[in-house]
Amino acid sequence: MDAKHGRSPKVVVIGGTYVDMAIRCGQIPSAGQKVTGSALSYTTTGPGPNQAIEASLCGCEVYLISKVGGDPFAQMARNILAENKVNTDLVYTAEAKNTGLVVTLVNAEGENASCYYPGANSALQTLDISEAEQIISESDVCLIHGQLPTEAIVSALRCAELYGVKVILNPARPLEQQGQKECDLPIEYFKSDILIPNLYEAAAITEQSTANIRTAKLIGSDLVARGVGTAIITMGRRGCMVVDRNSADHIPAFEIELVDHTGRGDAFAGALAAYCAVENDIRAAAKFASAAGALACTKFGSIEALPTKADIIEMLQKEDISQQ
Ligand SMILES: Nc1ncnc2c1ncn2[C@@H]1O[C@H](COP(=O)(O)OP(=O)(O)OP(=O)(O)O)[C@@H](O)[C@H]1O
Ligand SMILES: [Mg+2]
Repeated sequence: MDAKHGRSPKVVVIGGTYVDMAIRCGQIPSAGQKVTGSALSYTTTGPGPNQAIEASLCGCEVYLISKVGGDPFAQMARNILAENKVNTDLVYTAEAKNTGLVVTLVNAEGENASCYYPGANSALQTLDISEAEQIISESDVCLIHGQLPTEAIVSALRCAELYGVKVILNPARPLEQQGQKECDLPIEYFKSDILIPNLYEAAAITEQSTANIRTAKLIGSDLVARGVGTAIITMGRRGCMVVDRNSADHIPAFEIELVDHTGRGDAFAGALAAYCAVENDIRAAAKFASAAGALACTKFGSIEALPTKADIIEMLQKEDISQQ
């Protein structure tokens, strides 16, 4: 991807920031039980940093809009973003809050139990988006992950629309709707240029009880009928379905040896945004993003497992050669 208009493609990412704290223990304790841990790791993660770093690894100039707490984890997040050339001017601090945290216990069989605490992410608000208006208006793509307060997402969608900035929205449940059965999304979501739910998110939004590769076309058409420009429904190792007004195309997944699927959705989204910041070919973008999602499955971890543009291009070229 070459720079457009003599500058790097510019992507603004809006998404939650978390610290992932994992403790290995012989067995996961039940209520009232105490167990001893044998290993501890903690790293920055979350759709915000993961997607922003992926877009940066694909050669874009990237800003992250997110909120962290007044604790040392906030600096850890800023450092890893800066190391990966993501601009952190719009990573706000809620001093009285903690940075979002996911605590995971992993047992000897590799099974896990997690508790996630949104912390400062739940304080991202309209005012924060207003402060970012200039950066949003100058971006080629605004990539938004839905697991944030609805008010912040709707403000960002309105701001991007006002300036004609291409919107890619991952319609994960807003923070206020976590744990609810029904999924009640604001109408602004359906004005997105590209909506990228996974199959289960897509089925919940369209109230479809069966979610499989056959119903994905139907679900995609439903989303397009509601106003979405293009729906890309991701289906893990079954690939993704790209649906717009003209056609529905299945893009198969790349074959890989699965090591750890953490971060696959974020790698897909970040790479898609990077491609769309330069080119308008949505199917080629989905293929590029699929390679990123597949590559993220070949390594442990989230940020550490994100592929670079060169890794993605190599995977695409290998496939071209094998098909000749
Ligand atoms: N096992 C796999 N093998 C090859 N490609 C994969 C695999 N899993 C995911 N992908 C690629 O990554 C894309 C996104 O994956 P998926 O649909 O699982 O996202 P997700 O459910 O949003 O993931 P996450 O839980 O990380 O948010 C898929 O459409 C596919 O192209
Ligand atoms: Mg996802």
